[in-house]
Amino acid sequence: MYRGHAQSTIEKLAEYSDVPVFNGLTDEWHPTQMLADFLTMFEHGKSRKPTFAYLGDARNNVANSLLVTGALLGCDVRIGAPKNLQPSEEVVAIAKNLAAKSGAKITITDEVAIAVKGAEFIHTDVWVSMGEPIEKWDERINLLKPYQINDEVFALSGNPDAKFMHCLPAYHDTETKVGKEVSAKFGMADGIEVTSSVFDSKRNIAFDQAENRLHTIEAILVATLGSKTVTELLGA
Ligand code: NVA
Repeated sequence: MYRGHAQSTIEKLAEYSDVPVFNGLTDEWHPTQMLADFLTMFEHGKSRKPTFAYLGDARNNVANSLLVTGALLGCDVRIGAPKNLQPSEEVVAIAKNLAAKSGAKITITDEVAIAVKGAEFIHTDVWVSMGEPIEKWDERINLLKPYQINDEVFALSGNPDAKFMHCLPAYHDTETKVGKEVSAKFGMADGIEVTSSVFDSKRNIAFDQAENRLHTIEAILVATLGSKTVTELLGA
C-alpha cells in the first residue's frame, strides 16, 4: 500500500512492482476509503444505489472518489461546492462516462439545497487536506462556510432519516489544536466542516464507516494475496 501525495508516484510504483500495489490515499484519489464508504451506505441504506451528497472541498481525493465510485455503481450523486472548488473537468468526464453505462445521476452544483434534497447520506471531509499548506484555511473558510454540515443542511434534505458521513478526522469542536485555532481565528464556535450538533447526533455513522475501513482493507489483503500463489509472488 502506498499512502502519499502524487498519483503519478503510485502509478510508477505499480508499474515497476512485481507484487500487487494498492492506493491507500493520494492527493487525487482515495479508493480504499470508497470500499468502506459504500459498504457503510449499503448497510445503513435501502439499496445498493444510494442517493448521496458531498458538500465541501470537492476537488479533493475523497470528493473525486465519491463522485467516480457513485457514477460507476449507478448512484444518484450530488456534489455541492463553490464553483472554484468543484471537481476538475477530467474527473467529471470520467464520472459522466461511467454514468452513461451505469445509469447514475450526477449533479454538480453550488447550491446546497439542490445538492442535499432527498439525500440519504450527506458526506463531508476536512476543508484542508494532508499536505496542503496551512494558509489554505484563510482562502477556504469564507468560501466553504455556506457548505458546513449543520442542522439546517439536514432540514434542507427533507429526509428525517438522512445520515452524516465523514472519513475522519473531523473538526467538529475546539478540542483539537487546529480546531481551536481555526475556530478562534474565523469565529466558528461550533465546528468547522461539521457542527457538533450533527457530529454528536444519531445521524452520525462515521464511526461505523471507520470500522468498515478495517474489514474492507482485510478484504483487499485476502483478494490480493489470493491473486497469485506465494511461489508466483517469489518468482520461483
Ligand atoms: N481529504 C483528506 C482525507 C483524509 C482521510 C486528506 O487528504 O487529508
